[in-house]
Amino acid sequence: MDILKTKSEMHEWSKTRKKESKTICFVPTMGYLHQGHVSLLEKGRPLCDTLVLSIFVNPAQFGPNEDLDSYPSNIENDLALARKAGVTAVFLPRKDDIYPENFQTEIKLQSLPDHLCGKSRPIHFDGVAIVVTKLFNIILPDIAVFGQKDYQQLQIIRQLMLDLDLDIEIVAGEIIREKDGLAMSSRNAYLSESQRVSARSLFKSLNLARELIARGETRPGAIIRQMASFIQGFPETALDYISFCDPQTLEDVDSIKHPVLLAIAVKIGKTRLIDNALIDPSQ
Ligand code: PAF
Repeated sequence: MDILKTKSEMHEWSKTRKKESKTICFVPTMGYLHQGHVSLLEKGRPLCDTLVLSIFVNPAQFGPNEDLDSYPSNIENDLALARKAGVTAVFLPRKDDIYPENFQTEIKLQSLPDHLCGKSRPIHFDGVAIVVTKLFNIILPDIAVFGQKDYQQLQIIRQLMLDLDLDIEIVAGEIIREKDGLAMSSRNAYLSESQRVSARSLFKSLNLARELIARGETRPGAIIRQMASFIQGFPETALDYISFCDPQTLEDVDSIKHPVLLAIAVKIGKTRLIDNALIDPSQ
């Protein structure tokens, strides 16, 4: 497994693979890998001749009061998991290599970031869009794999591909859960044992919504009220949003008659967690 620490080394590596007519699959991450990331790597491995993993905690996607400085990291463990998953190269850039002094460019999407997490994290998706575009230009992937837990991010990346005429296939990886249903996230590491119990309420509330829909409920408001009161019954929970929305535009729907995205964000203590489910009321 090659480890590339500068963008010029990484770019040369990718250009060499291209000259050899090798295809490149790419999985971008911020490190502190867990089974969710491993599943993205395993999904990507058979799709191309080579598999590149990036580990970069991107400052541009963190707001002023967010967890940039405390974001968990364990590079040794990340490299061991990457090796086991068959990664060909790991890109481990430094902040000032990605954002040199006098960096000026922004990428702003017009409506997808206005919904869901974008409402409480106003600069987050601009930061994701710029770093992913740069990583694509450096790594030159044919295919890139993104997890569906960050559904809004996935939609934004798909839109970015269309808007910027980027010829990279975007593949979605399913949400990987702990045994108790909690969606895997690097941020789960912040949770105390009792917060962990509260964190399970996200997944349980998605199941509650499924049950209500299966019984014929079509009013988002009625379901959201029940989900909210269920979650708020657990200590240290502060609801950010629960939304039933169109899976393409992310705009709220006023009735659940077609497949919808049910997305949720809750703060457990200081830790903000997200989860979602695609629900088809006809099934
Ligand atoms: O999903 C993430 O971990 C990050 O948002 C990404 C895509 C690696 C960009 O920093």
